[in-house]
Amino acid sequence: MKILVTGGTGYIGSHTVVELQQNGYEVVIVDNLSNSHAEVVDRIEEITGIRPGFENLDLTNTEKTADFFKRHKGLSGAIHFAALKAVGESVDKPLLYYKNNIGSLINVLQGMNDNNISPIVFSSSCTVYGQPDILPVTEKAPIKKALSPYGHTKQIAEEIIETTVATSSIKAILLRYFNPIGAHESALIGELPLGVPNNLIPFLTQTAIGIREMLSVFGDDYNTPDGTAIRDYIHVVDLAKAHVVAIDRLLNNKGKSKVEMFNLGTGNGFSVLEVINSFEKTTGVKLNYKIVERRAGDIEKVWADTTFANSELGWKAEKGIDEMMRSAWKWELALANN
Ligand code: NAD
Ligand code: WQD
Repeated sequence: MKILVTGGTGYIGSHTVVELQQNGYEVVIVDNLSNSHAEVVDRIEEITGIRPGFENLDLTNTEKTADFFKRHKGLSGAIHFAALKAVGESVDKPLLYYKNNIGSLINVLQGMNDNNISPIVFSSSCTVYGQPDILPVTEKAPIKKALSPYGHTKQIAEEIIETTVATSSIKAILLRYFNPIGAHESALIGELPLGVPNNLIPFLTQTAIGIREMLSVFGDDYNTPDGTAIRDYIHVVDLAKAHVVAIDRLLNNKGKSKVEMFNLGTGNGFSVLEVINSFEKTTGVKLNYKIVERRAGDIEKVWADTTFANSELGWKAEKGIDEMMRSAWKWELALANN
């Protein structure tokens, strides 16, 4: 079975390609390398012993995407990771985000429709929930007004997929990721942020290794036990494995409806200070940090109700926060030695 993985040289995509290949799937990656490097294909081959197919293609290009699908008739399905994901940048450049994230999704769905390819697994996000009223948040929680154009693209994308599958033979699973962190055990693939990282873990590990002077902890006056904001961090390898389970489910017609959505988290919330404590304890490295003002647009706390994913998918995140820190640090050290 050959699976198209868009965005497959990116952070979550590359880990998923490894898991797919290790579970017997053939993979063809499409990525325009706007936020990743072609060497990732070599790294995947190094880990799995199998070289995935790769095409450098911008999925917002309608003609080239249609041509790709014409040339790849034997596809059994797609996992669509390709998107821009920097929340702050999306506020400054909303049209870029709508064009890239929505345009590429439409072209992929069109190509699948025209060539009778199904199913699709889509990378959604817990950002669709905003600040939920009830925690842990279930898949039935209301979708609130998006806090950023990036978040809005995920809400629109979910709706586009829902309406498309209603009138086509495509089946879909929408996976709502919480906060993916960590790296592959081999330290051959991991997160490669361009420039100054926005997310906590790459900023933390870059501070620990001396690239950044100090980590700013955004706010200690939240309504949480230690005052810092709480998230549901999930190891990227656990996340990647869920994609294999999702594609298996779709290909074996185990889905209960044409489109299903699942939360992918651990179900446990950790505050920023708890994350720092885990990092220091696990690595033995002391972190330079200070408390500063809250970051605009941040929510106070969110963690997943994973009951549905656990029972329906038969998938459960296995790695804890210490393991996430250990692998993130191993990856940062590997980057420094490159
Ligand atoms: P990433 O930036 O590492 O990977 C995305 C990949 O898509 C990159 O390799 C990029 O070059 C490629 N891409 C972007 N636009 C493209 C286009 N028009 N044509 C072809 N390739 C294109 O990001 P990631 O963290 O691996 O995220 C993967 C997906 O998961 C994204 O859809 C993201 O929105 C979603 N997601 C990520 C997180 C997170 O915290 N990392 C959380 C929730 C959801
Ligand atoms: C985590 C916590 C920060 C940096 C974002 C997107 C979301 C999803 C995941 C894609 C927060 C705090 C951070 C720092 C800090 N992505 N922090 N100092 O904001 O939960 O979610 O990524 O869909 O849509 O919004 O992740 O890693 O940026 O922050 O104190 O330098 O760490 O305030 O509490 P976030 P994050």
